Amino acid sequence: MDTTLFLGRFHPLVVHLPITLILLGGFMHFLSTKGKYKYLDSAVSFVLLLGAVFAIVAAILGWFVAEDRGYDPDTLFFHRWLGIAVSIGSIILCVIRFQLFQVSERLFPILMIIIMCMVGFTGHLGGNLTHGEGYLTEYAPDFVKDIFQSDSNAKMLFAEMTAQPDSIIVFDDIILPIIEAKCGNCHNDSQKKGGLNLITANGLEEGGDNGEVFVATKPFESELILRTTLPPGHTKFMPPKGTPLSFSEIELLKWWINSGASFEQRFSTLESNSTLATLLKRDFGLDTRVKPIYEMIAVEPVSNEVMEQLQENGLIAQQISQNNNYLDVSVSPDFKELSAENLETLLLVSDQVTWLDLSDAGITDAHMETIGQLTKLTRLRLNSNEISDEGLPLLNKLKYLESINLYDTKVSDKGLAALESINSLKRAYLWQTLVTTDGVSVLKEKLPNLAIDIGAVN
Ligand code: HEC
Repeated sequence: MDTTLFLGRFHPLVVHLPITLILLGGFMHFLSTKGKYKYLDSAVSFVLLLGAVFAIVAAILGWFVAEDRGYDPDTLFFHRWLGIAVSIGSIILCVIRFQLFQVSERLFPILMIIIMCMVGFTGHLGGNLTHGEGYLTEYAPDFVKDIFQSDSNAKMLFAEMTAQPDSIIVFDDIILPIIEAKCGNCHNDSQKKGGLNLITANGLEEGGDNGEVFVATKPFESELILRTTLPPGHTKFMPPKGTPLSFSEIELLKWWINSGASFEQRFSTLESNSTLATLLKRDFGLDTRVKPIYEMIAVEPVSNEVMEQLQENGLIAQQISQNNNYLDVSVSPDFKELSAENLETLLLVSDQVTWLDLSDAGITDAHMETIGQLTKLTRLRLNSNEISDEGLPLLNKLKYLESINLYDTKVSDKGLAALESINSLKRAYLWQTLVTTDGVSVLKEKLPNLAIDIGAVN
């Protein structure tokens, strides 16, 4: 086995001889038909004979080396049999040249051309085997690539999918393609090195000769991770030949195992950390950031009349951006105190108000019922107002609220607890209130992702 592999490694070296000799023999033959180069004809038989001998040697060495790496099985199949066909073809050419067999004069040039083409194509497939498919066209102009590369289609499909991350199944669409590319050549249905088929869910679950290859939620007890993160060159390092997994591929595999190694789970239901979010965005164009409501659902613009009506009631409203009809509302400096009626005009634009700044505007608990109906609110500033614990429970329907500022109010731990049902909440500003660190810990238990700023500790 080792001797044949040792010899097999000479295949790439030897293979250039028959390529050169057969092509040279062909060119010499065709040139010799022109009077001026007739003298070349006497050498054609010799050159072709040498070509045939080396073609046979190269084919035998090729057969040996095919056992070696995890070559792509389809390419290998065609390369192998085309190479053998070239050897046989070059023998036939010699038989005709040395007149061991009488055939029509016209047959030789036709056969010569066919075999020259086969030499070129076999060589190209050989190149693909060692350098990977697409090596030749990697730096080609786009129009050439479009003709040769079919995987641009796959990329396009993925781009369509990323538009709707809900349709992405993490295993099928992210994990499996990595394994197929890096491990598939040796661990597939037909070649199960180590008794392991990695390219199907069943195969992964069955594991290899030495048992399971992954332990759900435990990446560092999973052979899949252990074997791919050994120092390269270690006898157990995977893949033993070819390109190792990249940092980002290893991170993605760990993420998949960590999240329970599910074969069905959809992308949108999987949690990712910031490193992964960056990798997913960079390598797959997948956005893991949870978007605020105003980036996801479009709303109708507010009419000028309503805008004027808001203004008359001391409310300055403007669109949050040129192309987004959601509103950023604050209180006009002319209005020291906003009456309940003033505030109620906001109900006309309850679909649009998403940022609301009511700082120091004479807001009391009596106003809270109105604010609680502005269900598209994502940012709310209520600082420096006479509000207490009574009002806050009225805000519990604000299911998109991300940020609330209660600085300089009479809110205490009791009022704070009322916020626990607002799962979307990410930031709460609570300095100069009656809230204590105990109250904060209670809320943090319910909303672990909430960042609470209480300023100096009370
Ligand atoms: C070039 C061929 C080749 C490639 C590519 C390859 N492997 Fe292997 N793999 C082997 C061979 C040969 C064995 C058996 C010898 C051994 O256990 O080291 C094996 C064994 C294994 C085993 C142990 C199976 C068992 O139960 O004994 C695991 C796990 C494994 N490979 C994972 C991978 C992963 C993951 C990849 C892709 C990153 C990969 N392999 C790519 C050839 C390959």
